[in-house]
Amino acid sequence: MDPRLNIIYQRRSIRVFEHRELEEEKIKELLQAGMAAPSASNGQPWEFIVVTDPEQLSKLQSKLEHGKYNAPAAIAVLANLSIAKKESSIRFWVQDCSAAVENILIAAAGLDLGSVWIGAYPKEDVSNMIHEVLEIPEDIHVLNLIYVGYPAEEKPPRTQYEEERVHWQKY
Ligand SMILES: Cc1cc2nc3c(=O)[nH]c(=O)nc-3n(C[C@H](O)[C@H](O)[C@H](O)COP(=O)(O)O)c2cc1C
Repeated sequence: MDPRLNIIYQRRSIRVFEHRELEEEKIKELLQAGMAAPSASNGQPWEFIVVTDPEQLSKLQSKLEHGKYNAPAAIAVLANLSIAKKESSIRFWVQDCSAAVENILIAAAGLDLGSVWIGAYPKEDVSNMIHEVLEIPEDIHVLNLIYVGYPAEEKPPRTQYEEERVHWQKY
């Protein structure tokens, strides 16, 4: 593994966080990384909600079966097709927003923060709950939440490379 790519391998899902606020400036850095992502025809359909209010966080955390972790911040990743710069976002918003999410997760690792992708789309119940708690208009899609904060668990860097998954020239 080439050490120049270490940050890719160091990014792991972190589910235990220090009880410590995450500085707004770090959150903004993460969002800059998110909005540097590629998107179909550069349509950039994304919007983000940053949640740091403990009451809002605990509402989300208590209602998420797979998201009961003590992160001090959550970023909801949304697609708003009415502000997308290209029509292709109608078909590609999931990929576009996913690229932004991965950028944020890797950026978090680069800033020595921990993060984890909490899935919403295509689970309607989870998506509806997030719409309700964060007062998101109905026509805006929710892809996921990203929990982020200072990590209180360590995981080893790794690839999950499997030679047999790779085909060359033909299947
Ligand atoms: C679409 C998607 C949905 C996920 N949803 C959750 C989730 O709801 N809760 C959670 O703890 N982890 C969730 N994860 C994180 C995965 O469990 C994690 O990425 C996987 O186990 C690999 O571990 P790693 O991230 O440390 O490499 C999700 C990841 C993806 C890509």
